[in-house]
Amino acid sequence: MNIKLLIIGILLSVTALFGQVNKAIEMPYVEYPIEAGDHDEVVQQYCLTCHSFGYVLNQGKKSRPYWTGTVAKMVNEFKASISKEDQQVIINYLVKHYGFESTSGH
Ligand code: HEC
Repeated sequence: MNIKLLIIGILLSVTALFGQVNKAIEMPYVEYPIEAGDHDEVVQQYCLTCHSFGYVLNQGKKSRPYWTGTVAKMVNEFKASISKEDQQVIINYLVKHYGFESTSGH
């Protein structure tokens, strides 16, 4: 028997098997709480509109230059509309709660 046909045959029957599983898949809703204080409301207002706060938490503790660059990226590349003042408030919040003071490095 042709080996290629055999492989295709196996693949097709596996696909058919999975095709029969059609019960609803429930995803748990994961909430990422954001730390209160230092104008967290500004962060909530701007940083949760496109994606969850998981993006921020997943980065681990990051330096001030990292957060400055990331907020700038959200504004410049992804067109988040945030005033300069609010960007600074957000950066300070992120450095304090999800980062560390540093002038260089990541
Ligand atoms: C206009 C939509 C939008 C807003 C508002 C926004 N983001 Fe993002 N953000 C994105 C997109 C798009 C990505 C990239 C997603 C990907 O690559 O999968 C992203 C990714 C990220 C990442 C992952 C690391 C990276 O550099 O890609 C972090 C951290 C992040 N955002 C933080 C923030 C913070 C903090 C704010 C508030 C200042 C914010 N975002 C507001 C659209 C937005």
